[in-house]
Amino acid sequence: EEQKAQHHERIKTLLKKNNAVLVAHYYTDPEIQALAEETGGCVSDSLEMARFGAEHSADTLIVAGVKFMGETAKILTPEKTVLMPTLEATCSLDLGCPADKFSEFCDSHPERTVVVYANTSAAVKARADYVVTSSMALELVEHLDAQGKKILWGPDRHLGGYIAKQTGADMIMWQGACVVHDEFKSRALQQLKEEYPNAAVLVHPESPDNVVALADAVGSTSQLIKASQTMANDTFIVATDKGIFYKMQQLAPGKTFIEAPTGGNGATCRSCAHCPWMAMNGLAAIENALTTGGKAHEIQVDPELGKQAMIPLNRMLDFAK
Ligand code: 13P
Ligand code: SF4
Repeated sequence: EEQKAQHHERIKTLLKKNNAVLVAHYYTDPEIQALAEETGGCVSDSLEMARFGAEHSADTLIVAGVKFMGETAKILTPEKTVLMPTLEATCSLDLGCPADKFSEFCDSHPERTVVVYANTSAAVKARADYVVTSSMALELVEHLDAQGKKILWGPDRHLGGYIAKQTGADMIMWQGACVVHDEFKSRALQQLKEEYPNAAVLVHPESPDNVVALADAVGSTSQLIKASQTMANDTFIVATDKGIFYKMQQLAPGKTFIEAPTGGNGATCRSCAHCPWMAMNGLAAIENALTTGGKAHEIQVDPELGKQAMIPLNRMLDFAK
């Protein structure tokens, strides 16, 4: 605790000294989210992180999350220095969608509009017509479908499948998945619902369709947090990364939040839902990034690639306005 407090104080000083601001995702550890709040930074979903970073006047952004979030920040504001606690923090969706293979997939369907999830590399974004996050993907696909467009979607097959089902849009999909959300289990969730008959089930759409089918609300991290505040239930079963409980508890302190069950070696596990890459973000790493910067912490995006990727990213921000 004392060590944490010392990190806190030193990071605060470093943020001021470097004219830097901390931008954190809801899945990061509670102490990071608290620090971002205390220092005038932001804690949010991936869409709002992108917007906040792009609009903020700081010279340096320190992005606590995973690599695609730092890259998005750099692409949108190449003149800023973008630091991350660690550049090793990636995402299974990004890893599972190499740009060369994805580009071949696009080339074999030239008539389709390419829509990619923000959880991708700069090179994959550069190949896309639109970038989306889970908080506006459904609306954008609806909009494109209404214009008669056929869609090539990547990389998350669960989110893509959910959107196709909701909108009826013609979509072909890259077969990626999130290692965290893919583990939620429908049968165990059904049993938990029976144990807590008054609980509402909140599900992130990166989860398998048979888990989404049991949901009372489906949405992005920010949409699930909103649901936990506005729904009348006093208990919620939550199928997304457990980092989100910090904000849910803060905004609805009287309510009870329960982790949805995940599989793990065949056994049911109720505390596994934490992204291993989000977990790499720590106070010591933030302090280190602000002190040393450089190769180990600074996000670099090839300027030409960045220019290409900025086009679909700006379409995302414009559409979400
Ligand atoms: P959100 O856009 O809902 O914050 O999701 C980001 C993410 O990585 C979910 O796993
Ligand atoms: Fe990627 Fe899943 Fe981690 Fe989100 S929770 S960053 S989608 S691996």
